Amino acid sequence: MEASFIFEKLWNDYIVQNPEAKRVFDCFVSEGETVVNDHIAFRTFDDPRISIDVLTRPFLLSGYVQRGYYIFEDKHLTAKHFEHPTDNKAPRVFISQLMLQHFSPELQKIARQCVDNIADSLLFGNDLIYAGNVWGTPSFGVYEKLRNESEYAAWLYVYGFCANHFTVSINHLKSFKSIQQVNQFLKDKGFLLNDSGGEVKGTPAELLEQSSTRAGILPVKFSEGIFEIPSCYYEFALRWPDTNGELYSGFIAKSADKIFESTDFYKK
Ligand code: NI
Repeated sequence: MEASFIFEKLWNDYIVQNPEAKRVFDCFVSEGETVVNDHIAFRTFDDPRISIDVLTRPFLLSGYVQRGYYIFEDKHLTAKHFEHPTDNKAPRVFISQLMLQHFSPELQKIARQCVDNIADSLLFGNDLIYAGNVWGTPSFGVYEKLRNESEYAAWLYVYGFCANHFTVSINHLKSFKSIQQVNQFLKDKGFLLNDSGGEVKGTPAELLEQSSTRAGILPVKFSEGIFEIPSCYYEFALRWPDTNGELYSGFIAKSADKIFESTDFYKK
């Protein structure tokens, strides 16, 4: 499958889950901009049946190659990023996984039971990446229990496999020259930004600046009824040239650490 088809399907699901992202996208379009994605991010558990290496299959088949490997000690995550070597409009793919053995036996058991519920056709095929919640209607009690240990685990338990965020490449915007200008534009339009660790994560010296909206609040059907919880968010990235003159293409672990918090629970 061509990568562009994968991303189109992921985007269509993403804007249903996150209508605010579509409104942000439309704001840029009405400024005359063409939105190009810097990267698209996914989450999973490090259970070998659904690990990064499993989710990566469709991207490798469409020509992507692995570039970076990252460790987020505080969040107990590892991640890899992938790029398409010839198509320079193809977004980077960033996939992280939660290191289950760092958590309580109870969290590990919940994760294992979730994976046990996934159909073999998904585990052995190439469609898991956009299959959504493949372990059944979540319980709000379990969601709350997971949140005590890991907001990441709680988010994944509810939403499963989908784009956690798309990221607008500020480098590809014509009339926005700084990330501060993008942030002000979004705030003027009434969008909430994630300010954990400051609105801008990273510096020009680190070669990557990023900001993100706070995840929109979505009514979700749990076994106990409908509850409003955070869904996905939209990210913005500005890359700076490295000493070789080319734009830096990797990720900064300490910045991403704070950006993961964009889906932390909050009350509207
Ligand atoms: Ni990101």
